Amino acid sequence: MFTDLQKQTTWDTIYQKSQGQPFQYFDWFLGYSSLKGLLLQLLRDMKSEASLKLLDIGCGTSELGPRLYCECPFPLHVYCVDFSPIALAIMRAQTSQLPQPVSSASQLHFVQTDIRDLSGFQQQSFNLILDKGTLDALLQANDGGETACCALTESLRMLSPGGLMLQVSDEDPDVRIVWLESLRLVTVTVLQVDTEKNTGYFAYIIKPMSTQC
Ligand SMILES: C[S@@+](CC[C@H](N)C(=O)[O-])C[C@H]1O[C@@H](n2cnc3c(N)ncnc32)[C@H](O)[C@@H]1O
Repeated sequence: MFTDLQKQTTWDTIYQKSQGQPFQYFDWFLGYSSLKGLLLQLLRDMKSEASLKLLDIGCGTSELGPRLYCECPFPLHVYCVDFSPIALAIMRAQTSQLPQPVSSASQLHFVQTDIRDLSGFQQQSFNLILDKGTLDALLQANDGGETACCALTESLRMLSPGGLMLQVSDEDPDVRIVWLESLRLVTVTVLQVDTEKNTGYFAYIIKPMSTQC
């Protein structure tokens, strides 16, 4: 059982175990097939003349970013970020195996960064920020939630006007909404993600109340 979940070395140790093994994407919970409908619907509702930009914070070796890049029917620039160079090396090694994206203008990037400091990206430039399991893990870290709070505030700063953050989590709304609203930054809609195999997961659709976080 790891407690130092805010530390890069903890995650490097976890991902090192899959290095050298035959590649397969690993989603900590709920893969692309469970979330595809919701993700594409949120993106479709934002559809604009320009390409849309999506940021997956703490992507690990999840299939969501690569599959969205390949299958999104309109141009989508996907940025998968993580602070573990090992997770990103595993992901980058697979890029050449991916099929051509449905939209030839789509792009896929893997960027090593700490999500507490996203200053390497242009502020207010992402239409959708995806957090699947990353803040869940950081909320369990032994730093009293400090890293989680910082990462959330920083992520919201990256949203373009009208942009949304989608958190997919197993944390009950009674707990998560109290935390989100305590930060006085956001309004939240909750959906239950209910698939044949999975119950007990929630999608929190978060809108910043102000663009200045
Ligand atoms: C529970 S995993 C979730 C991975 C993926 N989103 C999924 O659903 O399978 C959390 C991920 O967040 C990354 N992470 C944790 N803290 C981070 C930080 N401060 N900056 C960037 N990535 C971080 C870890 O390396 C790990 O890959």
